[in-house]
Amino acid sequence: MQRLIDLRSDTVTQPTEEMRDFMRSAIVGDDVYEEDPTVRELEMTVATLLGKESGVFVPSGTMGNLIAAMIHGRDKRSEIICGSDSHVARDEVGGMSAVAGVHTFQVPNLEEGRLDIDKVREAVLADADIHYSVPRAVFVETSHGNRGGRVPPLAHFEEIAAICRQRISNHVALHCDGARIWNAAAALKLSPADVARPFDTVTCCMSKGLGCPMGSVLCGPLSFVTEARWARKMLGGGMRQVGFMAAAGLYALKHNLPRIPDDHRRLSSMHTTLTAATAAKEGMNGAVTLSPVETNIMFVHTNNAANRDSVVTHCAKNGVLVGSWPGNAIRVVMNCNVDEEAAKRSTDVLTEGLLKYFSS
Ligand SMILES: Cc1ncc(COP(=O)(O)O)c(C=O)c1O
Repeated sequence: MQRLIDLRSDTVTQPTEEMRDFMRSAIVGDDVYEEDPTVRELEMTVATLLGKESGVFVPSGTMGNLIAAMIHGRDKRSEIICGSDSHVARDEVGGMSAVAGVHTFQVPNLEEGRLDIDKVREAVLADADIHYSVPRAVFVETSHGNRGGRVPPLAHFEEIAAICRQRISNHVALHCDGARIWNAAAALKLSPADVARPFDTVTCCMSKGLGCPMGSVLCGPLSFVTEARWARKMLGGGMRQVGFMAAAGLYALKHNLPRIPDDHRRLSSMHTTLTAATAAKEGMNGAVTLSPVETNIMFVHTNNAANRDSVVTHCAKNGVLVGSWPGNAIRVVMNCNVDEEAAKRSTDVLTEGLLKYFSS
């Protein structure tokens, strides 16, 4: 029987036998007592990789971003500026307002997931006024999930950091939801530390392109991370012998981080094949368009939800899972469980489905 190829997300990956063996042999302790040496090692390793002073292991990216919002927006009247299409605004159940108690001021996400810089400037540098909440942080995202894994240029984030510094009445922090900062670094051909340089604080995930079962690390200055440990406990995220999971992260940084460009190359090659096949086919009439591939995520935009569903079903029947996405789209996410042969097979199956249901 052929193995199922799962391209719905990079969160669906199964740990390899080697990762499981490494996890099994981890030395662990009670992490709430700060006695788990493997967690400590992961926190230090990730903080160093991102060029930050310290890091704290949290169960998920959502919790990492939420803790960042709780700390940056701790004062009443706080406002966090973020993209209207960002994960924190759209996909984290409104935790910033419901749990952190912070007002979000959402500005449009433009191409590549960039924020509308004029709107950011206006919001960050707004005069103090009795009607206004106080900007305390800007939250950005790279790579940008809802923009097909695209990577805003570093200069964009440097410009936002400079705007934050211009506000003199209070500090405005720059936080990055770097769930896939590893993919961003690979795409920019920069070190993760170079990509993270403009940010005061960063959440990065072990559970996406790196292929771990769980976990994120929230990094920043030591004083911020010390506070983050309290916030994590308050949210019920204090964990005990969780070094088994941290070990997966250490394994992944050594073995899976260097292979992330393979995912990008495989998806890019799928993109090339699909583009050629759909362009060459008569009767497609722009029914299918592909988002540009910069990292490991691609959207196939279509003009018809019913036909889109037929393509998704066709793929599933042929052993390939892809995601149905709002706006009649299909989402394809290349991940570390998909080797060269599986990438080729899924390209054939998806091409077949698109030609079958979208050429008249
Ligand atoms: C861009 C981005 N940020 C944050 C998260 C949240 O991560 P988690 O699922 O670990 O809570 C995700 C999850 O897919 C994501 O894609």
